Amino acid sequence: MIEVKNLYFKYDEKFILKNINIEIKEGSFTAIIGANGSGKTTLAKHFNALLLPTKGDVIVDGLNTKKYEINARKKVGFVFQNFEDQMVHSIVEEDIAFGLENLELENNEIIDIVEKTLNKLKIKNIEKDNVNMISSGQKQLVALAGVLAMKPKYIVFDEPTTMLDINNKKNIMSIMKKLNKKDKITVILITNILSDLKYADNVILIKKGTVIFDGKKSMLNKKILKEAGLNA
Ligand SMILES: Nc1ncnc2c1ncn2[C@@H]1O[C@H](COP(=O)(O)OP(=O)(O)O)[C@@H](O)[C@H]1O
Ligand SMILES: [Mg+2]
Repeated sequence: MIEVKNLYFKYDEKFILKNINIEIKEGSFTAIIGANGSGKTTLAKHFNALLLPTKGDVIVDGLNTKKYEINARKKVGFVFQNFEDQMVHSIVEEDIAFGLENLELENNEIIDIVEKTLNKLKIKNIEKDNVNMISSGQKQLVALAGVLAMKPKYIVFDEPTTMLDINNKKNIMSIMKKLNKKDKITVILITNILSDLKYADNVILIKKGTVIFDGKKSMLNKKILKEAGLNA
């Protein structure tokens, strides 16, 4: 479980996150939704200790991110909105292997994990391709593969559908669903698009750095969505 307790955060003077109290349960598919600039990415970066609270705490499987950054970094994978910045190596298979090479694994073990991940995401055909030459949908899958290879328990997808055409959107949505339902990975989907909530069980609605709804998707109503600046 990821627990966020009385979280406040500021980059400079102004608080961007204010008194956030949420729990993300293991196995859930949770969407964090809110208008542009409401603080979604800032909040999510606290889950894997990319950011640490100005006040309050974030606890990942019982360990406070302030003290156990490495734990949070390992447990919570992050597919960034600008996933192109996530590429480190120019060849697809090398890029996916990058994180694994920092662990003390045998070479053939790395090759095996990369192969399995390529197959899982159905991108084995591009393993030798240059990451600059593939489509954005494929780039996103390569970024995801690099995250999946590390076997995280939680994965944050930061606005994964915004850069994609309809087919790639459908593909990433169905991958998220499978990762959650089949592989039992806890999925945290950040979005400002209501149709992205399709597979979410729980929804956390953010407005100007505060949570204005936290509960089952079925309990959402037009009024509250409107209040958050989303078109219902
Ligand atoms: N690195 C930063 N330094 C200063 N302000 C930032 C930084 N990143 C984001 N912000 C500000 O924090 C607010 C929330 O941003 P963000 O978390 O990216 O929102 P969202 O992901 O919901 O669009 C915005 O007003 C944004 O301008
Ligand atoms: Mg964002």
